[in-house]
Amino acid sequence: HPTGGSVINPRELLGNDLKVLTENIRKLLGSGHPVLNTISNYYFQQQGKHIRPLIVLLMSQATSLAPKQGDGRWTLDEGVNAPISSGGGIHFDGTGGVGHGSKKEGASRLTDEEAMSDLVSTDSAPAILPTQKRLAEITEMIHTASLLHDDVIDVSDVRRAQASANAEFGNKMAILAGDFLLARASIALARLRNVEVVELLATVISNLVEGEFMQLRNSAIDNGDKGWLANVLGTRASRNDEVNARFEYYMEKTYLKTASLIAKSCRAAAVLGGCTADVAEAAYNYGKNLGLAFQLVDDMLDFVVTADEFGKPVNADLKLGLATAPVLYAAEKYPQLFPLMERKFEGKGDVEEALKYVFESDGIPMTKALAISYCQEAVRSISHLPDSPAKTALIQLTNSVITRKK
Ligand code: FPP
Ligand code: FPP
Ligand code: MG
Ligand code: MG
Repeated sequence: HPTGGSVINPRELLGNDLKVLTENIRKLLGSGHPVLNTISNYYFQQQGKHIRPLIVLLMSQATSLAPKQGDGRWTLDEGVNAPISSGGGIHFDGTGGVGHGSKKEGASRLTDEEAMSDLVSTDSAPAILPTQKRLAEITEMIHTASLLHDDVIDVSDVRRAQASANAEFGNKMAILAGDFLLARASIALARLRNVEVVELLATVISNLVEGEFMQLRNSAIDNGDKGWLANVLGTRASRNDEVNARFEYYMEKTYLKTASLIAKSCRAAAVLGGCTADVAEAAYNYGKNLGLAFQLVDDMLDFVVTADEFGKPVNADLKLGLATAPVLYAAEKYPQLFPLMERKFEGKGDVEEALKYVFESDGIPMTKALAISYCQEAVRSISHLPDSPAKTALIQLTNSVITRKK
């Protein structure tokens, strides 16, 4: 077992690389417009949890000793030349790969002297490339841009325990600040000089919009649109089919809205490190499964914690008309929930009634069990990476996803 029983503090492991994140992002956001500067920097004053950059940096470290493109025997394309007698397919034992230092073509292709000149170099964790650190910043900028727009859409006046940007500066400014963040993130992305990574992160941005769009069509905010249910459900034969169809829609939305960003960022970290297709796929699968688990827990906490603990309003999803995993599981036992879901919990007492069914059913434990199974899959995904403190931290992170209270 890679942990040997000891618990690793991932923030300590990353040291300065995570600490300089906000400062570097500020530099990427400088403009000639003081007010635009103020608003686009606003969400970087209240410290977020920085969970996405944390994972990107850990994944960069964890994959740094894994097989690299150009090692010949490890790549899929060159697989035909691989020794035939190995028996168990590709075996990552940590000795086959080379560190970043000795990697020739990948590194020189990626580090464009001019474009990288403004990257801050820090001495901790030498395995992380400057491009991977920049990627972590880009990931956090895209996340924050989505929050700026999200708070407008959700008409939310609190974020990170303070006034939201829309509450403080108005909707128009908040939207523009989000757009500006995306634009500056795109410039930084282009400067990584890696087309595959540009495509990954551009796809993330469209996924975020698609996920938000799917959720909106499914919520009371967009109640004018009654067509979605028919679209999603098709010709449903039974209540059971309806739960399944709703669940499928919900998981697809969850992938797009929450998991895609971390999944594709993890893949991008491996790509920037020059890793093989197998390693990039492993990184992607870790991010995808962890992201799905994270959102399931988020949707569960919406039912079980108090607003003070959570740092945001509770039962918010029901109030928005959304049936998340706990409700969908509850509907398997209590069909009384179907008409409530159909009218998006807008009837008098609907929210309270739905809560009652959720707590009388096993909706909460079932949701938790599903989140646990995604975490196990996340751990399995990276099991072939060479053992390292970063890999251990990534594994331990899956536990804290399940046990978190906020
Ligand atoms: C804000 O992000 C909340 C969301 C975007 C909703 C769901 C997201 C999560 C539950 C976290 C996703 C986890 C992974 C592994 C991608 P936040 O809670 O990260 O907010 P912060 O930036 O203010 O900390
Ligand atoms: C938070 O969810 C929101 C998201 C994870 C994504 C929102 C995406 C958009 C608004 C599309 C636009 C995207 C970009 C990149 C500009 P939540 O409302 O469930 O979480 P909360 O409780 O933290 O508000
Ligand atoms: Mg919101
Ligand atoms: Mg939202």
